Amino acid sequence: MVAAERHQNYTIKVTKQLHVLPPSRSSPFDDTHVSDIQFAAHASDFVIAGSETTATTRAVTIHYLLSNPLILQTLTDEIPNKFNKEEDICAASTAGLKYLHAVCLEALQMYAPLPLGLPSVVPKGGALVDGYPVPEGFVVSTNPYAASLSPTNFTRPHEFIPGRWIGDNKQDMLDAAQPFSLGRRSCLGRCLAWLEMHIVLSRLIWRYEIERVGPMVDWEAESEMHLLWKKPELPVRLKPRFREKKI
Ligand code: HEM
Repeated sequence: MVAAERHQNYTIKVTKQLHVLPPSRSSPFDDTHVSDIQFAAHASDFVIAGSETTATTRAVTIHYLLSNPLILQTLTDEIPNKFNKEEDICAASTAGLKYLHAVCLEALQMYAPLPLGLPSVVPKGGALVDGYPVPEGFVVSTNPYAASLSPTNFTRPHEFIPGRWIGDNKQDMLDAAQPFSLGRRSCLGRCLAWLEMHIVLSRLIWRYEIERVGPMVDWEAESEMHLLWKKPELPVRLKPRFREKKI
């Protein structure tokens, strides 16, 4: 199945879930009318949800790649050799790039773009959460940052090891990293986010050699956690990649 079709199916599935299941939050829509202010609010949500999150993933991925030259080299071997021209780099052709996907997964595990645990209200009648009964009305959440950086879930969680996402990994609890969250309110744009991350990183690496300008920063120490991250600066130099003309 091509990536665009997967994205469409996923969006239909999540939208259906929202309509079939009883609402967990009150809906801003009535059946007959959507006001301009509602449209504006949703447009604004999309811009916030869909821009800073993918920008963070790109920035932190580039930072980790520049801090790990061998991993950057492995990725460079995967991408430029596979494509003859930049226009060949598209959703379908990047979907199968296993190492690129693993690099992004590892960046998302180490630095979830939405680092705070979003609150959910326990519905009427209470709920069992991880085996514990929680009364209705209580607010629960999982902190994605803690879950994906806990040594209980990942071996050497602070090291950038994309290989852990390839093949049969019995050492790590990979499911503990859920940067897009889970359930019916999970990220609606995750397939779009994947398309964007695959294509933009592939094109960047296909076209340029990337090098850091100035000293390496301690990324985590210099980040500020708000609802989203305030990231450190990432000055880089892009040098057009030399490639021999194919005859
Ligand atoms: C790496 C990129 C992204 C990450 C890590 C991410 C993560 C998340 C997370 C954690 C949530 C909250 C889920 C919850 O409430 O439990 C969310 C919601 C959402 N995201 Fe993303 N997101 C990303 C990219 C995008 C993109 C590109 C879009 C498209 C515009 C998007 C649209 C949305 C929307 C509309 C929601 C609200 C869903 C709902 O409340 O039903 N996201 N995202």
